Amino acid sequence: MHASSGPVRGLTPGAAVRSEFPIFESATYLNSCSQGALSLRVRAAVQEWLAGWDENGAEWDFWVERNEAARERFAALVHAEPDDVAVTTSVSQAVSALVSALDLSGERNRIVISEYEFPTVGQIAHAQELRGAEVVHVRPEPDGRIPLERFAAAIDERTALVCCTCVSFRSGHRHDVRAVAELAHARGALVLADCYQALGALELDVRTLGADMLTGGTVKYLLGTAGLAFMWVRGDLVRSLLPTQTGWFADEDIFAMSIADYSPHASARRFDSGTPPVPSLYPGVAGMELVAEASVPAIEAHVRGLVDRLLAGLDDLGATTATPRAEAERGPLVCVVSTDPSALVEALAAERIVTSTRDASLRVSLHLYNVEEDVDRLLEALGRNRALLA
Ligand SMILES: Cc1ncc(COP(=O)(O)O)c(C=O)c1O
Repeated sequence: MHASSGPVRGLTPGAAVRSEFPIFESATYLNSCSQGALSLRVRAAVQEWLAGWDENGAEWDFWVERNEAARERFAALVHAEPDDVAVTTSVSQAVSALVSALDLSGERNRIVISEYEFPTVGQIAHAQELRGAEVVHVRPEPDGRIPLERFAAAIDERTALVCCTCVSFRSGHRHDVRAVAELAHARGALVLADCYQALGALELDVRTLGADMLTGGTVKYLLGTAGLAFMWVRGDLVRSLLPTQTGWFADEDIFAMSIADYSPHASARRFDSGTPPVPSLYPGVAGMELVAEASVPAIEAHVRGLVDRLLAGLDDLGATTATPRAEAERGPLVCVVSTDPSALVEALAAERIVTSTRDASLRVSLHLYNVEEDVDRLLEALGRNRALLA
């Protein structure tokens, strides 16, 4: 018997959920941009996977069911149809499969990438140079923003794909994906939004986002673990895309076990690959259920309040942020410029405050389980380390 079921209703972000996350008994956890905190429920889901393996060996049917549960849960999160969602093992696998479906040998061979893409997106784009692609970078202004005009200057009738991340993992900047997509569509290009740093913390709706593809995984604000990611593909686009990076779970009939041809599934399952990431499905589904139970709009509002408090406190300290101040240009991640970010992360870790670093910044990320006291504790500690703030 498996205990997993649909979401349990009614978690309120903030103090009410803290008891689900044991790490808060011993630390102030502000590092969801790297990995979401482990909940009791996600731990139980991993144990459920192990128990099933112990008791029954290969629970093949249940694994396939969990794969579909993950697809459905993710689809619900972004207001999509499950048939338009591929289940993958990473964003890298999803994006590689996607670009493998693009013809980059002709006139329309350009991939435009914002300077804030995650390394995997940039590296996959550049790998396509071996297939005839040209990669165009859209670089930020000195203040760190990437104005729309920069995208406008980079996207033209030679552009096949524009990669515009929702929230930058390195600066916390939030892009106006919709505006970029309007530009791209006017010039006949597709748009991929890597939303890893937003999913679960910001409400995302594929019906209004503007992008043609959305990708992200369960490691961060979705509260699961590594090995599970997704890609939503606009339904009316799916059949025109034939991935050459593929696998038997992308076939129109997995159980046909045929080696005679390539017959991709009619739905976005054509971007799936091999055996589903079974150990990651259990925690992934449990994490997404927890997020759904708290509701992303409620999480977003909660996180916004904490980010406002943090920014006000940083102003009082005279600190500089790499993250823009305007509400529409930021999400759950605030990057604080430091003269020595590694030393600052260490100094905070010594006080059991968990953060991370990228570039010249300390990364502080807020999620449903954070409370005002976490922000205040961090600000006090930053005050004691004022010399490390730029
Ligand atoms: C924006 C973004 N994209 C992608 C990834 C990871 O990609 P993958 O699932 O291929 O490891 C991360 C973080 O690990 C990320 O922050």
